[in-house]
Amino acid sequence: MLCPGGVRTSVSPARPSRVVERVGAGVADLAPGDEVFGETITDHQWHNGGAFAEYVSVQRRALARKPARVSFEQAATVPTSGMIALYNLRHLGELAPGQRVLVNGAGGCVGSCTVQLAKALGGHVTGVDTERKLELVRRLGADRAIDCDAVDFTRSGERYDLIVDIPGNRPFRACRRALAPRGRYVLIGHHHFGATGRRWLGPVPSAFALVALSPFHRQLPRRFPKPNRTELMATLTALLASGQLTPIIDRTFPLAEARAALRHLQEGQPCGRIVVTP
Ligand SMILES: NC(=O)c1ccc[n+]([C@@H]2O[C@H](COP(=O)([O-])OP(=O)(O)OC[C@H]3O[C@@H](n4cnc5c(N)ncnc54)[C@H](OP(=O)(O)O)[C@@H]3O)[C@@H](O)[C@H]2O)c1
Repeated sequence: MLCPGGVRTSVSPARPSRVVERVGAGVADLAPGDEVFGETITDHQWHNGGAFAEYVSVQRRALARKPARVSFEQAATVPTSGMIALYNLRHLGELAPGQRVLVNGAGGCVGSCTVQLAKALGGHVTGVDTERKLELVRRLGADRAIDCDAVDFTRSGERYDLIVDIPGNRPFRACRRALAPRGRYVLIGHHHFGATGRRWLGPVPSAFALVALSPFHRQLPRRFPKPNRTELMATLTALLASGQLTPIIDRTFPLAEARAALRHLQEGQPCGRIVVTP
């Protein structure tokens, strides 16, 4: 049963990749056989879709048409990390053309989108990551790539108009040293690196601390507008179509090997995205 506005998409071997199987009442602009990409959730980002499956029913607004230029595998890597990257660059970071952006964690899932989107928005991009990821970071279009284990970007004397901190492994007070006086700091991920763990509350204390500090620091965002998924997906689709956003795939795994895919993610030191295919 489909809800009004719902779309059932398939990733079945018989109809490979994400094609529409059926549409619910009220969906006029998609039809069976259309090639789409998107997310299975339509509200906030605190939890993800959560499973691998051959069929899924989703809200129409969670989907966009897949540009012909990219494969389904490439397109599948974009929505979650791409929307987060774009929202933080454009809406919280207020990135303007010509500004200097530092992306900490530039070679990871969110980072690889952030670097390309920052370039597409006209930024001069410096990417920070581990040594093994630096070639990837350059390939993504970064103007400079810094080895996080060789250089502490917070003490290099360089100043940036925007710092997008994806691992969140440096406190804001340290990152401020590398910010221009009217620069902006945005934090995406939290506590996955370093010894703090924060297993139970995860990012919540850091996020609240930054919100509490924001009235006193103009370098922190004060307004958090609700992300408009339709608009974010439209921008990502256009950038995929124009070639300004090109996801890099490390490896694909068939659905039957989803466990091996997750193991590779944890232990295989991937360089690029991992995709589970039907
Ligand atoms: N992926 C998503 O769609 C998504 C969505 C929402 C939120 N997030 C959050 O965003 C955060 C990052 O997620 P992700 O998926 O982008 O993770 P990721 O793919 O593991 O990327 C993190 C990157 O940071 C690098 N790194 C490790 N130590 C570093 C250091 N000291 N300084 C700078 N970079 C360092 C890692 O390199 P190595 O691989 O060599 O260690 C990796 O390239 C997480 O907290 C996650 O919860 C992610």
